Amino acid sequence: MRKKVTVVGAGNVGANCALRLAGKELADVVLVDVVDGVPQGKGLDLLESGPVEGYDVNITGANDYGPTANSDIVIITAGFPRTPGMSRDDLLIKNYEVVKTATEQAVKASPNAILILVTNPLDAMCWTALQVSKFPKARVIGMAGVLDTARFRTFIAQELNVSVENVTALVLGGHGDTMVPIARLTSVSGIPLSQLLDQATIDRLVQRARDGGAEIVKYLKTGSAYYAPSSAAVEMAESILKDKKKVLPCAAYLEGEYGIKGLYVGVPVKLGAKGIEKIYEIKLQPDEQAALQKSAAAVQELVDVIKTKM
Ligand code: LAC
Repeated sequence: MRKKVTVVGAGNVGANCALRLAGKELADVVLVDVVDGVPQGKGLDLLESGPVEGYDVNITGANDYGPTANSDIVIITAGFPRTPGMSRDDLLIKNYEVVKTATEQAVKASPNAILILVTNPLDAMCWTALQVSKFPKARVIGMAGVLDTARFRTFIAQELNVSVENVTALVLGGHGDTMVPIARLTSVSGIPLSQLLDQATIDRLVQRARDGGAEIVKYLKTGSAYYAPSSAAVEMAESILKDKKKVLPCAAYLEGEYGIKGLYVGVPVKLGAKGIEKIYEIKLQPDEQAALQKSAAAVQELVDVIKTKM
């Protein structure tokens, strides 16, 4: 049976997700957006690059969820992006409404799908989708850690003038200003970062990773990043569709792991055909654990605001 992935939101993140899914021939793709013509136009345009690019999947666009029926994965990217000076959290109320509606409709059409959330503020939007969908927690996952880690890996590789492919990194916590890059567990082909860079340099790179989203927003002025976010979402989708069981940092619903309960926070998970198949609870140093708690508290504040709206 052919696989099917729905991408909700035909903006820059959504369209690039569709492009990457098609390029890897992972699934047929349905792009959904409320704006008339945009998902249809972008879908057709993407389909027409297939003969040249050499991919053979179906890509369609729609304004309703009928054509999305029985998707294996639904990637939710719809929502308002940041503009300069805004934090991801400033999007909370507007995007809560968008994600709530999208989730309701998507899960009605695809009751067995796995949801991958991309919309910001990410961790709070995951929480919203979990409540609205009533799906098991394994099937509602947030994209953040793969992106934050990719940025951290990029900066480390640049600094050391080595291949990004050799840099393995871990970023925990919420996808916000309090995210927690764990430099101690970051290495270059197994060589700990601390043996390659001094602490001041590591601190600078950690901060740049934290500010990685804002750095792009500052350049673009009218929106936020989309190439790296779509790469990250599609890496997660690929691991699920092919049951690869990759271990990736993702926003997962925690029920006591790391001392955090009832919240989405970024942690390493195993992603396979069933969604989140395992949450890895790694031993943290006291300062790392404290930073993670602080990040979780920031997510809790947003969730508390949403609770008053439900
Ligand atoms: C970023 C947005 C997608 O980090 O959150 O660029």
